[in-house]
Amino acid sequence: MSDLILSGVRYELSRTLLHDLDLTFAAGRMTALSGPSGSGKTTLLSIAGGLLRPTTGEATYAGAPMWRGTGDPRPEVSFVLQVYGLVPILSARENVSVALRARGVDPDEADERAAAALARFHIADLGDRQVEELSGGQMQRVALARGLCVGSGVLLADEPTSELDEGNRGLVLAELRREADRGAVVVVATHDPAVVDACDDHHALDEGRLVDHTEPVHLTGSRGSSPSDLDQRGPDLDQRGPVVEQRGAPATSGRRDHPTVAPDQQEDDDPYELFRRPPGSP
Ligand SMILES: Nc1ncnc2c1ncn2[C@@H]1O[C@H](COP(=O)(O)OP(=O)(O)O)[C@@H](O)[C@H]1O
Ligand SMILES: [Mg+2]
Repeated sequence: MSDLILSGVRYELSRTLLHDLDLTFAAGRMTALSGPSGSGKTTLLSIAGGLLRPTTGEATYAGAPMWRGTGDPRPEVSFVLQVYGLVPILSARENVSVALRARGVDPDEADERAAAALARFHIADLGDRQVEELSGGQMQRVALARGLCVGSGVLLADEPTSELDEGNRGLVLAELRREADRGAVVVVATHDPAVVDACDDHHALDEGRLVDHTEPVHLTGSRGSSPSDLDQRGPDLDQRGPVVEQRGAPATSGRRDHPTVAPDQQEDDDPYELFRRPPGSP
């Protein structure tokens, strides 16, 4: 398995959204990408996964560019999207199965593997339910099942625990860890200090630039979950961790400190229409 390397990645629309970033996301490790809403996390994941072409610079994996000229990700890449990207009128199992079928898996086998993937997230019983009937947290777990079932080399998860209670967050972190343990590059954009804490590496973004933290950021309250929280179940409430101000913290990259954002910055609006399609879909 290879690392995912961003070299001099800059992204400009009417203004510069990402400023000449050099980053390596290592195979076999979980990397947290934190930062306030609007800091560029989703944009960075989109470039890292080949959905967007950087204005300058390049994202490469296994020695080849992620951008293939069309915005279609390479088959090695799997996304868990911030807005889930589920098809509302399909069942939970069909939403997962479609990612496998898109990769050439036989339909019967795809359905079986989809059911197994839902079971990883303790929602096997929801397989036949239409996604539009599910809660936000249940949809989020369907999106995770879909992203993880394909065994991709690069797994890019955009705020994958934002709708989950602490127990389910622990479950998700344990499953992401399994993906890293088999050698995948796992990158998790997050606002949640407990998620940052569970990762091996951490990069913080602010206004499209890497921010570093030479001083630990003090957090009060629950740091929450770990894989040992697996059997804690509960409603799909949003229980993001406590918040602290990130601005003003001095900088270093790759450390596992805990910048987070003010609550009023936590809205999850995502203007990207292209994010609404399933990972791996043509
Ligand atoms: N298609 C777009 N057109 C113009 N601005 C955009 C577009 N997508 C994102 N942005 C802007 O880029 C910045 C970074 O957005 P985003 O990557 O979604 O941040 P994050 O995921 O950290 O919340 C924000 O200021 C956002 O408004
Ligand atoms: Mg985002």
